[in-house]
Amino acid sequence: MLKVALKRYRTLVLFSIFFFYLGCCLTLSFLRIDCTKVTVSNNNVLQLQDDTIILAEYIVLIVSSPSNQAKRDAVRATWSKFVNNIFIDNGQTIYKWNYSWTTQNSQHGMIKIYFAVGTQGLNDEKIKSLRAEQKHSKDLLFLNIEDNYQNLSLKNLKAIKWFSKNVKGMKYLIKCDDDSFVRIDLIVKDLEAFAPSMTAPEINQFVTLKNRIPSDKGLYWGYFNGHANVYLNGKWQERTWFLCDKYLPYALGGGYVISRSIVDYIANNSNLLSYYNSEDVSMGVWTAALDINRVHDIRFDTEWKSRGCNKTMLVRHKQSPSDMFEMYETLVHSHGEKLCKTEDFKRKTYFYNWNVLPSMCCSSTQN
Ligand SMILES: *[C@@H]1O[C@H](CO)[C@@H](O)[C@H](O)[C@H]1NC(C)=O
Ligand SMILES: *[C@@H]1O[C@H](CO)[C@@H](O)[C@H](O)[C@H]1NC(C)=O
Ligand SMILES: *[C@@H]1O[C@H](CO)[C@@H](O)[C@H](O)[C@H]1NC(C)=O
Ligand SMILES: *[C@@H]1O[C@H](CO)[C@@H](O)[C@H](O)[C@H]1NC(C)=O
Repeated sequence: MLKVALKRYRTLVLFSIFFFYLGCCLTLSFLRIDCTKVTVSNNNVLQLQDDTIILAEYIVLIVSSPSNQAKRDAVRATWSKFVNNIFIDNGQTIYKWNYSWTTQNSQHGMIKIYFAVGTQGLNDEKIKSLRAEQKHSKDLLFLNIEDNYQNLSLKNLKAIKWFSKNVKGMKYLIKCDDDSFVRIDLIVKDLEAFAPSMTAPEINQFVTLKNRIPSDKGLYWGYFNGHANVYLNGKWQERTWFLCDKYLPYALGGGYVISRSIVDYIANNSNLLSYYNSEDVSMGVWTAALDINRVHDIRFDTEWKSRGCNKTMLVRHKQSPSDMFEMYETLVHSHGEKLCKTEDFKRKTYFYNWNVLPSMCCSSTQN
């Protein structure tokens, strides 16, 4: 009896099994291409829960890459520790230099630091070492993307989407690279005190902005350029650029700050955005249509080459791990008074003129 039944239904059973497997395969492949999923290739060995909820007011997004552990370790051992100079006292956020050699942890409830790395197509050895690093430091944001220069804007976009979805209470996102030295404490201090308008006697000597009221729809703060030449060849080439003879005004990528409204706007519209090779150029385009407060600040030393060292600086780009340790030691020894052993001047600084066309934006050294 059973034998007969089995024989009769064998084809059906085989079909069912076949379709069950097909279903599984389809489901798995859809899971893999879902952008917001930070579940990663290589049999999910690198995983961040997609439903993780992080509570933080400030997110520091450090764009890194799989093999840059030495740079990440330099950041972990130096400037990231200055989050300890921000305290919450009776509901008030205050800044005070309180860092000493003995100060311990560097993760702060209010400020969270993440290194974004793309993990698609990595070999087993690299996966193993990233897993070990994550186990120890818990600050890597694994993105399911091949980590290369062409994918940089997409990597930034995926990280922004992840933060938009997974961070509760975020006010600002600070984007920098793993070779940026960032006075995270001073940036948070200024945001707490002056954002979103960024006008105050204390900072007027450093910033230029287009006066507009209201200024609270969003903030885009950094060192801007409005007349940068479009690269047609070489590493930075933009083959698909057609918007204008120059790039649209953008804050240079070594470090800039965007408000949550911008983070959410980008995340919500990510399917429609076009990307260019340079992530900072992309950010300029993505935000070009927005009625936001753009603030140029000479304390962001964020060009492709440092303009020199000045103790007022909030970000210094193109710093090696040993440069970072030197600035860190100088700061700690001087209780936050000195950033560099000797201050120097390498390149001209300009104040952005928001009241003229972009071709004339960036020559003046006057305020
Ligand atoms: C400075 O840091 C120490 C140790 O981390 C802490 O006990 C102390 O309360 C801090 N000072 C202030 C003013 O918050
Ligand atoms: C990343 O870059 C590679 C090589 O340039 C490309 O094939 C791939 O489609 C890009 N995108 C993702 C999501 O990895
Ligand atoms: C983004 O989308 C969310 C959910 O749909 C919405 O609540 C929010 O207002 C949107 N924000 C922006 C800036 O588009
Ligand atoms: C450092 O910056 C301040 C403020 O912009 C400026 O007055 C000073 O001359 C700078 N120092 C050097 C060495 O460039």
